[in-house]
Amino acid sequence: MTNEEQLESIKNFSYQKMSHDATGHNFDHIQRVIKTVKNILKDEPADPLVTLAAAYLHDVADDKLVSNPQTLENEIKDFLNQLDFSNEQITEILYITHNLSFSKSLSANPPKLSLAGQIVQDADRLDAIGAIGITRAIYYGGANSETIYDPEIRPREKMNKSEYRNLSNETIINHFYEKLLKLTAMMNTETAKKIAKNRHQYMIDFLAEFKAEWDAEK
Ligand code: ADP
Ligand code: NI
Repeated sequence: MTNEEQLESIKNFSYQKMSHDATGHNFDHIQRVIKTVKNILKDEPADPLVTLAAAYLHDVADDKLVSNPQTLENEIKDFLNQLDFSNEQITEILYITHNLSFSKSLSANPPKLSLAGQIVQDADRLDAIGAIGITRAIYYGGANSETIYDPEIRPREKMNKSEYRNLSNETIINHFYEKLLKLTAMMNTETAKKIAKNRHQYMIDFLAEFKAEWDAEK
């Protein structure tokens, strides 16, 4: 089996798993991540097969999206086995998909990703910022019945204890301060840092305009 054939099968598998999602992880997200990964790979010496396979599979077993992530990880493992991936490749791909997330990066002992993993993480994060990122945050917030904005709600690190207890109050605009505006400084590769710059500024401009319009309604 050629690498192209392996990737074509993985793409179909990912499509079957992701195409029904309605929280901003539909297959269009995967396709943008793949395009960005290919772009970054032009400047980075990572193994394209492992990087692209991990990119296609990165959200399939996400514990935010499925109730049985372990079952899906086992399914991915069997599937990659059938496609003649080595145990070493399978271990690397699953390590990447398991450890990519923003919350893991913030943990006391953040996982150390291979270059392939850093590239997938950058591409995933680039899709969470800029105009697409704004759209996805609003889409996700709507799907999860979040309030649009509450000027009283501030980023967690600036909250006092009693505010902190009320965290069901996440708003769409607050999500920018809690996560989206932090991603640019967390990019791994030079290519991603360059792409992130404009997208970051676009979010800053959006938030300034949003708040100006919000206040004008008073
Ligand atoms: P991914 O795993 O693709 O990086 P997430 O699962 O964290 O992304 O979230 C999917 C999309 O929804 C992202 O664009 C993210 O910024 C957005 N999102 C996640 N949590 C929230 C939230 N609480 N409010 C608004 N948007 C959110
Ligand atoms: Ni993703």
